[in-house]
Amino acid sequence: MKGFSLLLPGDGVGPEVVAGAASVLETVAFRFGHQFDLHTGLIGAAALRHNLAPLPDDTLAAARDVNAILLGAVGDPAFDKGDSSRRPETALLQIRRELKLYANLRPAKMWPGLESAGPLKPSVFAGPDMLVVRELTGGLYYGEPRGIAADGSSAHNTMRYSRSEIERIARRAFDAARLRRKRVTSVDKMNVLETSRLWRQVVTEVAAGYPDVALDHMLVDSCAMRIALAPASFDVIVTENMFGDILSDEAGAVVGSLGLLPAASLGDGTGLFEPVHGSAPDIAGRNIANPIGAIGSAAMLLRHALGLEREAAAVESAIGAALTAGHRTADIAVGDERRVGTKEMTAAIKSLITHHSSLIVNP
Ligand code: IPM
Ligand code: MN
Repeated sequence: MKGFSLLLPGDGVGPEVVAGAASVLETVAFRFGHQFDLHTGLIGAAALRHNLAPLPDDTLAAARDVNAILLGAVGDPAFDKGDSSRRPETALLQIRRELKLYANLRPAKMWPGLESAGPLKPSVFAGPDMLVVRELTGGLYYGEPRGIAADGSSAHNTMRYSRSEIERIARRAFDAARLRRKRVTSVDKMNVLETSRLWRQVVTEVAAGYPDVALDHMLVDSCAMRIALAPASFDVIVTENMFGDILSDEAGAVVGSLGLLPAASLGDGTGLFEPVHGSAPDIAGRNIANPIGAIGSAAMLLRHALGLEREAAAVESAIGAALTAGHRTADIAVGDERRVGTKEMTAAIKSLITHHSSLIVNP
């Protein structure tokens, strides 16, 4: 098949991990006989440095025109002081809103061999494998009014959710659960927030249409604790924008490293695929970032944007095989385990895709 994708490397480690993920897509194209056209655009501080807006018009126009977008990361401390419209992060919020990417899927699972890479006792692990379904275009991130008083004496943001916003994200979560272990945990703060009371009510109503999926509700503070204490007890977590931002970083930490986590941001059209980790300026340009989050995002692109399930599964199997073979970037290396760089990890995964016919399901 033919696929047109836009690469937005962005800032910090973004360019390194996107280069790795793009080369994996090329390997998949070669191995499976597809043709992927990959174009590159500017976003974030990379665009600001060209005297463009954080999300340049050309980038947005190109984004509307492709099957999928693969993004690295945005964020650069050099631009932290400017007004909020000139912050690199604005680009991400804009592109999510413009493309109506309301559903953010963030799977976090324990890869075999990484049990001791995270902060928890191996005995806590019975192989966590969860999916955070984060609402991505509402809540505090977008609510109006928002602002800071001219004299700096106060600031405000607004948390607002409509019934239809909650319904559509709940449906995504229940649909995803049907392909997994058929359990949804809806996370809110209904003991304090009106938005959460509506959230709980609407999710419960949507659940009635999914009698085969079990639903439970949890308060966000207690959920945060439970992810640390019993991460394997979760299947699908569905929650609002900010809670999902926080809980998905925690999920990354408990499975060994945020650098492992892929994500897909989906609406009704073009999807955007980006690792959960940020731009990590402290390690940028040094070939030490973990490319697995970005490569896993490329796998999600193959699955969700191009409908190439077999190819997505081959990439994911190759990630697992590279880890089983002992390849470790610095973030997941324990003790004196040998560390490989971004490029070496990428090369190992590509070679497994190319040479391991056993990875290919139903050839
Ligand atoms: C993420 C990031 C973004 C968010 C930032 C960079 C705006 O943390 O994708 O999780 O908060 O959504
Ligand atoms: Mn985040």
